[in-house]
Amino acid sequence: MNIAVMGYGVVGSGVAEVLAKNHDQIVRKSRQDDMQLKYILDRRTFPGDVNEHLVVSDFSKIIEDDSVKIVVETMGGLHPAYEFVLECLNAGKSVVTSNKELVAEKGCELLKAAQEHNVNFLFEASVGGGIPIIRPITQCLAANDINEIAGILNGTTNFILTMMIKEGMDFDEALRLAQRNGYAERDPSADIEGHDACRKIAILAALCFGKHVYPADIETEGITKITLADVDYAANWGGVIKLIARAKKLENGKITAIVSPAFVEYGSQLAGVDDVFNAILVRGDAIGDVVFYGRGAGKLPTASAVVADVIDCAVHIKERKDFGWGEGEENYVQSYLDTENALYVRFTSDNKEKALSDAQEIFGGVKVLERKDAPANEGAFATPVAKEGDLREKLAKIDGITVESVIRITDY
Ligand code: HSE
Repeated sequence: MNIAVMGYGVVGSGVAEVLAKNHDQIVRKSRQDDMQLKYILDRRTFPGDVNEHLVVSDFSKIIEDDSVKIVVETMGGLHPAYEFVLECLNAGKSVVTSNKELVAEKGCELLKAAQEHNVNFLFEASVGGGIPIIRPITQCLAANDINEIAGILNGTTNFILTMMIKEGMDFDEALRLAQRNGYAERDPSADIEGHDACRKIAILAALCFGKHVYPADIETEGITKITLADVDYAANWGGVIKLIARAKKLENGKITAIVSPAFVEYGSQLAGVDDVFNAILVRGDAIGDVVFYGRGAGKLPTASAVVADVIDCAVHIKERKDFGWGEGEENYVQSYLDTENALYVRFTSDNKEKALSDAQEIFGGVKVLERKDAPANEGAFATPVAKEGDLREKLAKIDGITVESVIRITDY
């Protein structure tokens, strides 16, 4: 059986490496006579690369070759990945992708195309890098009514926050290091502005709750505004700041879905997840809480998940997997303003003591936070839990303050 890889970047070259390195095992596990990488599609050339002879720049080579039964898409981005993948599925080729943008935006449509042509469209590597999460959710936990998922879904931002918290490194320095390590997306704003985590939680929510979730409907905030002052106040509160993506099923048939930095208590399973590691907590009615932990980014961990899908496609070449991923709906995602949580607030004011006493009264009790060497006009507090819209209205009622930072507080 022949395979093609589209996109010879970090993940694509990792896939080629794993296919070559573990060739014999992969053939055995695929139950095939052979598994060969036949083409690598890329606009660039790779002089001296071990796979230089496989590189083609013309997509038609792949689509017109009937011996290519499985195509791996590791190009990233929506276009032309979407057009190429759709054409492959329509041509009766199974597709494996690590591209979360593609799956989050077009998952429902591409699964339908795969179904129509009796082939597979698999995307284990699109969430959590090398961590098995798509299969556990759709197979191992299938007996459960999953009502909530929350996690650290972006390795780059977790790495950056860890460097800020533990090494006192500044944001730019930590981002450059993440990029050098090959964690960051082609466009790092996808990581640091939260879009990558948003796409991943959209995929998980669609799989857990059965309806397509549009990334644009998910309230998404990145980590670019987090300062070392916030890190210190989080420590005083009793935790750390993490970029948390969460989705929850509500009794009214809607869901909440939010990506944002959040205070996480030291005792939480998510608080100790550092560096490039990801952790995903899944809450099911029969199993309770399960946490999946591992390397969420990087060449070989992600290639590991891609190649596992290639093997799955080869084994199930005549069957197809149905993920029960239905069409999306307007107003399916409830506004974050109606979601309940507590907020951390950092402010400056000429009359800090009065501002804190007003906050106590308006919120009906706040926890005042402190940090060493804070400027005299800076204050911080944590509110009680309430609907976020109500909390923000109350915050606006405190006179004479400039709000410098607002961060959600989780209960995970
Ligand atoms: N840029 C992504 C991350 C890669 O840092 O998590 C894996 O999806």
